[in-house]
Amino acid sequence: MAGKAGIRVENLYKHFGKGDTLVRVIEGASFEVNKGELVALIAPSGAGKTTLLMMIGCVEEPTSGTIWLGDEKVYEDKWLTKETRKIRREKIGFIFQAHYLIPFLNVIENVTLVPQTNGVSEAEANKIAMELLEYFDIGDKARSMPSALSGGQNQRVAIARALANKPQIILADEPTAALDSKRSVDVVKMLKKIAIEQNVAVIMVTHDEAMLPLCDRILKIEDKKVVSEPVPKEGVAIL
Ligand SMILES: Nc1ncnc2c1ncn2[C@@H]1O[C@H](COP(=O)(O)OP(=O)(O)O)[C@@H](O)[C@H]1O
Ligand SMILES: [Mg+2]
Repeated sequence: MAGKAGIRVENLYKHFGKGDTLVRVIEGASFEVNKGELVALIAPSGAGKTTLLMMIGCVEEPTSGTIWLGDEKVYEDKWLTKETRKIRREKIGFIFQAHYLIPFLNVIENVTLVPQTNGVSEAEANKIAMELLEYFDIGDKARSMPSALSGGQNQRVAIARALANKPQIILADEPTAALDSKRSVDVVKMLKKIAIEQNVAVIMVTHDEAMLPLCDRILKIEDKKVVSEPVPKEGVAIL
């Protein structure tokens, strides 16, 4: 049976530069995120949240340590495959603060781009995309341009796009930072629903305390390591 860990990180280090310009960002982080779990990643600005996501996402090379994505060990003091791009395309969905939709493609074209790059036929990609857009109540916007949609609608398209390659892992870097509080709650609830219904491991960077009670657990970067905490009950400030 497949293990329940979607992401497993052991003794991970990340340094930038060397000599006088050496910056030690992560110093021995170990943690897991299970499939079906939505965890919030919190820490002050500059603490290494984005760097950590980019290492898990096989974008930024760690200095040392081990990373498993599902049952596959992808990094052990070096990438264990030359095809980090393939891992990224097949296993991971990224969501960013700004939605980064391609402005000259309509909504459904934005969503079908990744599956088509992965070799899925246009007809099949369109079917997957339409199901996702309907799942997020924006099926009627499929032929609209991103510029005609609200911020919240565009972020839903971006989430649909992140899901179009059926990832095992979703890495969301401040996905609600540009949204008002109601839209933020909608987006986080959507991520929770995806985690459960599609058995995806989701890490969401956030600075918004109000989002924490909607998550399952908190990972905090502290002293350049990662510690796990329970979420606060609604209305309790912890940051
Ligand atoms: N490419 C890079 N070269 C050198 N330093 C970097 C680079 N990327 C990030 N850093 C440094 O790593 C630290 C963590 O940055 P980042 O992961 O963006 O933090 P956060 O997302 O928590 O705000 C910062 O000190 C930043 O300056
Ligand atoms: Mg960041």
